[in-house]
Amino acid sequence: MFRVLDHPLIATELTRLREPSCPTSEFRQRMRRIASLMAPYVTELLETEVVECTTPLEITTGKRLVQSIVLVPIMRAGLGFLDGFLDLIPEAAVAHIGLARNEETLLPEPYYMKHPPSLAGKFVLLLDPMLATGGSAVEAVRNLREAGADRIAFACLVAAPEGLATFAEACPEIPVYAAALDRCLSERGYILPGLGDAGDRLFGTEA
Ligand code: PRP
Ligand code: URA
Repeated sequence: MFRVLDHPLIATELTRLREPSCPTSEFRQRMRRIASLMAPYVTELLETEVVECTTPLEITTGKRLVQSIVLVPIMRAGLGFLDGFLDLIPEAAVAHIGLARNEETLLPEPYYMKHPPSLAGKFVLLLDPMLATGGSAVEAVRNLREAGADRIAFACLVAAPEGLATFAEACPEIPVYAAALDRCLSERGYILPGLGDAGDRLFGTEA
């Protein structure tokens, strides 16, 4: 399942993010805001169960989440999404995956992974603003599955059709949510029109 969250508030935030004149501090704030705007949609498949609920006036029924939630930012750029999700889901655990895309081969090179002891039975939400070739997202899912994850969703900001196709083929059961589906990849593996290097723009490390 692939869903573009074509919401006016998300679209206007993303439009400003794309512009090179959007400085790091503003880029960070807007990415965080987009994450919060996306969060209700991205968690739409969370299961709930009915519980008894006592109001000041009577006993009624309410709902509670069946599964606990683990947010998984792919470093570095996924960190830009993290706080916006945590603002809405403060009880979530956070697992980190470090992947750096090799600029020559475009393949992801893993450098870090830290997650709760078991991910089995949890709602694991992978976060990365950019789905370009799809290599990083597929590698992250492989790591999460090794750690026991059996229920994964993926939230990105901008997706390229090439990456989406690769991801859908490797992980057909994982729903993908994006703020935009862009046109294609450049020869150097950048998303077009895209927004440039998300990690560099987020952390002010542009050359
Ligand atoms: C970027 C981005 C994704 C990856 C997407 O990270 O944040 O993780 O590229 O590309 P792919 O779909 O072709 O794998 P990068 O590896 O540049 O690291 P950074 O976030 O530290 O800048
Ligand atoms: N990673 C980025 O940060 N931007 C792209 O366009 C592609 C991969």
